Amino acid sequence: MKFSHEWIEKNPWLLIGLVVLVISVGGLVEIVPLFFQKSTTEPITGLKPYAPLSLVGRDIYIREGCYNCHSQMIRPFRAETERYGHYSVAGEFVYDRPFQWGSKRTGPDLARVGGRYSDEWHRIHLNNPRDMVPESNMPNYPWLATTKLIPEEVIPKMRALQRLSVPYSDEEIKQAPSALVDKTEQDALIAYLQGLGILIKARN
Ligand code: HEC
Repeated sequence: MKFSHEWIEKNPWLLIGLVVLVISVGGLVEIVPLFFQKSTTEPITGLKPYAPLSLVGRDIYIREGCYNCHSQMIRPFRAETERYGHYSVAGEFVYDRPFQWGSKRTGPDLARVGGRYSDEWHRIHLNNPRDMVPESNMPNYPWLATTKLIPEEVIPKMRALQRLSVPYSDEEIKQAPSALVDKTEQDALIAYLQGLGILIKARN
């Protein structure tokens, strides 16, 4: 029988099989090289795993769903770099598990928000964003300021990341809870926000 495309199209299972094959090969060719490329797997100069307080703050960021309104990825377009600063590079995120890039921007991108405002600004803003930006539609997060951290809870978080090859030493993990004593969830979240994107600050 003469080979014809019509024959493939009339055999749904064959068509599905071939479509899956084509998409998997296409996906592998695009994705697999990224696992081995230095620029995507090597941390940028100066990048360190999250300190215990920031690490806990990051989990609060995820718990509260901040990513539903905020991305953390500046694309290499003029309109973005003029507004937010240097575009994001892969090496900034090697210790981010899971990453928080996102694409939903009800609020501004936060990839380089570290150091843009004082800690005090963040405290007022998190309690009631309208006190800082009258037209804001960001929700209030007042409970963060009154909820104390449970220091020991950071240990399993760090252990899990250590297993995923984040270079925390056993000693660092043992000492970690002492950095969280008497801190609130708000302290942790602000520590996290203040560290975002600060290693690459220069505009453009
Ligand atoms: C419903 C959407 C929404 C959610 C959820 C949300 N935000 Fe916002 N956020 C905004 C909007 C809109 C703005 C801009 C107005 C303002 O500054 O309040 C903003 C601004 C900010 C800013 C200032 C950014 C800048 O460059 O000026 C920070 C920091 C911030 N949000 C942090 C957070 C954190 C942390 C959370 C989670 C606890 C969160 N946001 C949750 C909508 C949201």
